[in-house]
Amino acid sequence: MSRQKIFYHTTPIYYVNDVPHVGHAYTTIAADAITRARRLRGHTAFFLTGTDEHGQNIERTAREKGVPPQEYCDGITARFKSLWARLGVEYDDFIRTTDQRHAHGVERFWELLARARTPDGRDAVYRDHYTGWYCPRCEGFKDDGELTQPGNLCIVHELPCEWTEEENYFFRLSAYEDWIRREIENDRIRIEPAGRRNEVLSVIRQGLKDFSVSRARVKWGIKVPGDPEHVLYVWVDALSNYITALGFADRGERYRSFWEGASERLHLMGKEIIRFHCLYWPAMLKAAGLPAPTRIFAHGWLTRGGKKLSKTTGNVIDADQLITAYGADAVRYFFLREGSFGQDWDYTDDAFVGRFDADLANDLGNLVSRALTMAIRYCDGRSPARPVPMPKTSGIEEELQNDASRAALVAEIYGRYEALDFSGALIRIWNLIGRLNQRIVARAPWEMAKDPARREELHDFLYRLIEGIRVVTVLFSPVMPNAACKIMGMLGVTEETARSLDWGLVDPGVSFGPVEPLFPRIRSKKHDSAQKATRNVESKGEKGGGEKMPDDQKSNTVATDSVDDRIDIAEFARIDLRVARIIRAERISGANRLLKLEVDLGNETRQIVAGIAEAYEPEQLAGRKIALVANLKPARLRGIESNGMLLAASVDGRPVLCTFDADVPVGMPIK
Ligand code: MSP
Repeated sequence: MSRQKIFYHTTPIYYVNDVPHVGHAYTTIAADAITRARRLRGHTAFFLTGTDEHGQNIERTAREKGVPPQEYCDGITARFKSLWARLGVEYDDFIRTTDQRHAHGVERFWELLARARTPDGRDAVYRDHYTGWYCPRCEGFKDDGELTQPGNLCIVHELPCEWTEEENYFFRLSAYEDWIRREIENDRIRIEPAGRRNEVLSVIRQGLKDFSVSRARVKWGIKVPGDPEHVLYVWVDALSNYITALGFADRGERYRSFWEGASERLHLMGKEIIRFHCLYWPAMLKAAGLPAPTRIFAHGWLTRGGKKLSKTTGNVIDADQLITAYGADAVRYFFLREGSFGQDWDYTDDAFVGRFDADLANDLGNLVSRALTMAIRYCDGRSPARPVPMPKTSGIEEELQNDASRAALVAEIYGRYEALDFSGALIRIWNLIGRLNQRIVARAPWEMAKDPARREELHDFLYRLIEGIRVVTVLFSPVMPNAACKIMGMLGVTEETARSLDWGLVDPGVSFGPVEPLFPRIRSKKHDSAQKATRNVESKGEKGGGEKMPDDQKSNTVATDSVDDRIDIAEFARIDLRVARIIRAERISGANRLLKLEVDLGNETRQIVAGIAEAYEPEQLAGRKIALVANLKPARLRGIESNGMLLAASVDGRPVLCTFDADVPVGMPIK
């Protein structure tokens, strides 16, 4: 176990000018998961979220609804809190910018700014006259480059900006340019992913301009101390939440531990607001003599049909409906597993259902129900005796029993959580689940059960299997806390054991069960076979659970299969496998994992869609020979027809193309 550290994790505070949506949920689920992961690792972590309730937009929305602003904010904030409760999000504090404690903290912060001197000895805050274009939606002033003509429209909102002349307070950001650049270059403020870091550095290279930190025209906000004609600019008000929530106003214990004393002060957010967090916020903190954030992670945007989510255009994903239909854990799993956290990705219902059935119902659900059903049947409903010596066989359950190899696996998975590579962590965990499923088939405990002389072997195997399940459950518990709790309940383990990654903690003799289905399939198996080709191409993670076992040992969520899963040569001969050559490859917009390939089969050219974009650049592929299933029924992936499927292995979820070790003619059958 690494040395205990203190972490501070935040989401943006969300505007209350609309009800919460799935985009907000995305950041919040991620913050909840990283917090839980760090606590499992033995660290102390504090997780803050909240709502941003001031500003002209909110004032206007409340007016349009005919309610006083505070009452309006109370209503929407309650909706945020209820969504987080439904999603199993456990924050340590929820800050509202209309809280008294926030106002007090902001006033203290302003006092520090108002008397601060820049590194070159000037006032950090000064009064000046502003004339220019102002976008009330962004609540910000716009340069010519940020306007579209005619009409002086804001490039973000495509709405007319207003010509404004005001006397305002300004913050001398320009004086902190060198300091910010150095902090970012030296990773004292770590901006991730790397692309975002470069983006911020390039903004700095173009020169930072001072920005106005007060508004004379806005009423709904925190008054500038000593100048009640002005309210604080909504972003100054909002950014301060990260310290006011910790009790900055009187520099309390929480503030000292989790801001000043934290090993990592991590702000999570969507990519559109990094400039405020990477430039304004650290510079203001520096001016006030306070520590800056140490890590800023900007995740990508969730789209649907390749388009921005928007209520106005009806392009929405209804988080509430998804939770009602499939449960919070499935929603959490899908959002963290499906996309790469730093990148934009496109949501589809089909992908949601596909992943639910394949990863949750099949791989995980079956593993748990098979193992427990067998343990209950073959060991009188109790945990078998703990096998002490390492067995001679070598499978994943032995790898997990061995302290050194388990520690390496755990470190790797935690490393991915720490890097906020949630899909990477889950792919690795599902690889373990797949291997445990495969071991059930390979060891065939139902055969051992027929022979009384193999009783010990059977009990040893089942003990290791159950412990293996417990360990992988601990590993995915940051993402699916409810399912983890349910599984631990079925295993009858103590709360402490349910969080531990040590081996051999399931107590012999403890009663198991009853076995409840965890994730009942959404689609029937029949529908699945029809879709299999599609899923194979789309799917990125390794799949276990495809193995077959006797009917009576299966989960009640799975349709029956026969014991002998082998096929005869005639069945294999029905598959037309051929050598093909890739002519060209291109990316598919909105589908991060898919490439569209044109392939030569000797006597014809085909278009196929393959899920290999994360492992291969399109330019690398032209000319390569691949193995292709040529008689697969066509399928449409993201609206593009695919006429065949290439063969690839999957190593930790990364596809690896099957190739030939000598030159082979295009079109040649593979037998
Ligand atoms: N109030 C400001 C933030 C102040 S923080 C000091 C704000 N609020 S917001 O309600 O607009 O929330 C923006 C955040 O919601 C994004 O940064 C992101 O975390 C999340 N998302 C909103 N829509 C999203 C997607 N479509 N996809 C992913 N996340 C997005 O900006």
